[in-house]
Amino acid sequence: MTKFGSVLIQLATVDSTNNYAANLIQQGSCQDGSVIMADYQTMGRGQRGNSWQSVSGENLMFSIAFQSRLSIDQQIRISWYSAIIWQQCLLRFGIDAQIKWPNDLYVRGRKIGGILIEQQLNGTTLDWSILGCGINVNDTPDLVQATSIYQETGQRFKPLTVLTEFLDLLNGQQNLLFGDFFKLKRSFEEGMEWRNQLLQFEKKEGPSFEGIIRGVNEQGQLQVEVNGTMQSYGNQEIRFLLPRT
Ligand code: BTN
Repeated sequence: MTKFGSVLIQLATVDSTNNYAANLIQQGSCQDGSVIMADYQTMGRGQRGNSWQSVSGENLMFSIAFQSRLSIDQQIRISWYSAIIWQQCLLRFGIDAQIKWPNDLYVRGRKIGGILIEQQLNGTTLDWSILGCGINVNDTPDLVQATSIYQETGQRFKPLTVLTEFLDLLNGQQNLLFGDFFKLKRSFEEGMEWRNQLLQFEKKEGPSFEGIIRGVNEQGQLQVEVNGTMQSYGNQEIRFLLPRT
């Protein structure tokens, strides 16, 4: 089993901790479970080609490089598992966060953190996974509807304190990560917000439509009931608009 956090590299500034991890892997000098953390990223990346920006030293930004040895069709486990663990971790700070598919963390309709997973393949097996996480600890970016641990609790924490709790949970439940696939899928679905309610969706191409989120399929695609039939959508295909709170 991987020991997440077996090595901890703390950087003041880096382009992206995911890039730093990828370079270590490429150089053949990365130990399984290594964590790379930075106070500031000059080119932090988010999902869908977005950037990830954060004030220096106030928030948690890190990547974990690990050898999951999962086959390609099982890689969705990492995304589900990390979102579930973030939910549990935030609960340790008294925050009841929900997962916004595919793996964002939200509190009362505001984003508190996000995950960017990048994979390096070796044939049909995942050789290395890079799990990049950004969590708003003491500060919120102005660009999006966002919140932070401070905004939710009134307490300031060191980013490292939050990381320590996350790694503790991540290490402690690897039986969930590698065990029964459907148990993991169910746990993820239970953590998903905005299930079973009518929502407005926007397609990358084509008109917007209304539907009801029912869960995810085995590939991790969102299952949306549209006019009584179940449709599957990938992350790049659609986004849904949050109901007003
Ligand atoms: C998202 O919500 O779009 C995912 C955000 C992921 C941001 C983190 S910060 C640490 C790591 N390094 C990056 O460049 N991105 C991830």
